[in-house]
Amino acid sequence: MKNSIAICPGSFDPVTFGHLDIICRAANMFDKVIVVVASNKNKTNSFTPQERVEMIKKCIVDHPNVEVESFDGLLADFAARKGAKAIIKGLRAMSDFEYEFQMALTNKKLNPEVETLFLTTSAENMYLSSSMVKQIASMGGDISSFVPKVILEDILKRINVNK
Ligand code: PNS
Repeated sequence: MKNSIAICPGSFDPVTFGHLDIICRAANMFDKVIVVVASNKNKTNSFTPQERVEMIKKCIVDHPNVEVESFDGLLADFAARKGAKAIIKGLRAMSDFEYEFQMALTNKKLNPEVETLFLTTSAENMYLSSSMVKQIASMGGDISSFVPKVILEDILKRINVNK
């Protein structure tokens, strides 16, 4: 899609290889991708929005068409403000579907100009989630195959402090 902007929203608390797979695939399809750290009122986060933005930035240095920012408001408004054509979400399993479907329909109602597109997660990331990463780290497990090396210390430092 030419001259097109897509947004990749999420909590990213913290970003994982699963998220990065979706972001990179979106970056191959759109001229510009804006990763937006948005607020999910149903979740308690371990990292501030700015910390999450900084961690994502460290992971996407090789992708010049990807930008990262945080936003505390309605995603539909953010998409309108940026002139985005699409909201890109990753789907892992059927368990994701109902929640994602509800959000997609709500965002379409709030902003009919933007389409939600779902990318099927890569098979190796089917089980991966930020909360699983935090749980493994808090129990002394090895998370190096779930998150990039550049943010490993950031995560371990925070999880160990909270223990
Ligand atoms: O990674 P998550 O927590 O599944 O992402 C959910 C997120 C942050 C994309 C969603 O909660 C969201 O869009 N929040 C912004 C506020 C908003 O627009 N809420 C209505 C969504 S229908």
